[in-house]
Amino acid sequence: MIDPFGRKITYLRVSVTDRCDFRCVYCMGENPVFLPKREILTLEEIERLCTAFIRKGVERIRITGGEPLVRRGVLGLFEKLGQNIGAGLKELTLTTNGSQLAGMARGLAAAGVERINVSLDSLDPDRFRAITRWGDLAQVLGGIEAAQDAGLSIKLNTVVLKGVNDHELSQMITWAHERGMDITLIETMPMGGVAEDRTSQYVPLSLVRAALSQEFTLLDSTHRTGGPARYVTVGETGGRLGFITPMTHNFCESCNRVRLTATGQLYLCLGQEDAADLRSPLRATEDDGMLGAAIDEAITRKPKGHDFVIDRRHRSPAVSRPMSLTGG
Ligand code: GTP
Ligand code: 5AD
Ligand code: SF4
Repeated sequence: MIDPFGRKITYLRVSVTDRCDFRCVYCMGENPVFLPKREILTLEEIERLCTAFIRKGVERIRITGGEPLVRRGVLGLFEKLGQNIGAGLKELTLTTNGSQLAGMARGLAAAGVERINVSLDSLDPDRFRAITRWGDLAQVLGGIEAAQDAGLSIKLNTVVLKGVNDHELSQMITWAHERGMDITLIETMPMGGVAEDRTSQYVPLSLVRAALSQEFTLLDSTHRTGGPARYVTVGETGGRLGFITPMTHNFCESCNRVRLTATGQLYLCLGQEDAADLRSPLRATEDDGMLGAAIDEAITRKPKGHDFVIDRRHRSPAVSRPMSLTGG
């Protein structure tokens, strides 16, 4: 699959639910309205769509949410999709808040998952609770430990929020590296209506990097995961630190991904509203050729890039859809 800008699409992110057991302040309001259950694809339908994408050249699939591990039966989907590893699929992975990992890490590893991303914005239990509203830090740390015991390698994702967790970053980096984990810092993106004022919490990562380089030796690294993060190696710890900078330095030029929602909408870009409906062709026909044609048509609509801006005069989000619908 090649899009109109010559980019090869080899990476599919699949949101299996928009529900979550946390309510991160930059992601959701306190009482979000979730998709009606009747609109949601079955796990069998999701598998069929993923298989169609693998046939079309998708090499990596990342399962996301909301929180993917709160969807009932999701391990069965991992097991099914895992059977494609080595037969077209090179990597099956997920992004999770970690709350359910203690019970599920072994099953994920057995299904063929090797590397996971865990969201963690603070190591202070009270601050963690304030950011996630509902989250229990000890439960997530237990989940991370279980995942490591199951042999999964872990990248932590930390959204940097001014005045909330920005003073804690060097401690988090040291903590992650002592435990053999990569960590990636993320600029907050203006998606979805949330009560919090993201314009005042936004920090450009260039400033964070400058501050961290007073404390650590940051060595350029060529490490890439196929995602948007640019990595450095921290001289003092030997560990990897990534920066995801959609706001200050976008990476749209090398975008390789599309996003499927739990209702079968294919978003061609995280930062644009346009989506192609794949649920209708999926349900209209058993013919995978027609489904493949609908996917091809969708790819012709992939835009050049996102239009995210942080502008104090315009406080409404650039994209009204919440992050939890497309899983980041
Ligand atoms: P790997 O590099 O494969 O480990 O994954 P990743 O960093 O792409 O995925 P992850 O789910 O961990 O997402 C981390 C952050 O990157 C999230 O805040 C995502 O929203 C953001 N992100 C991932 N892909 C894109 C993208 O295409 N555009 C933008 N603007 N942000 C993205
Ligand atoms: N901006 C940046 N990252 C976000 N995430 C959720 N909402 C936002 C936002 N508005 C992150 C989560 C998770 C990843 C999938 O996306 O923390 O790590
Ligand atoms: Fe849940 Fe992730 Fe959104 Fe937090 S960022 S509320 S963990 S979906």
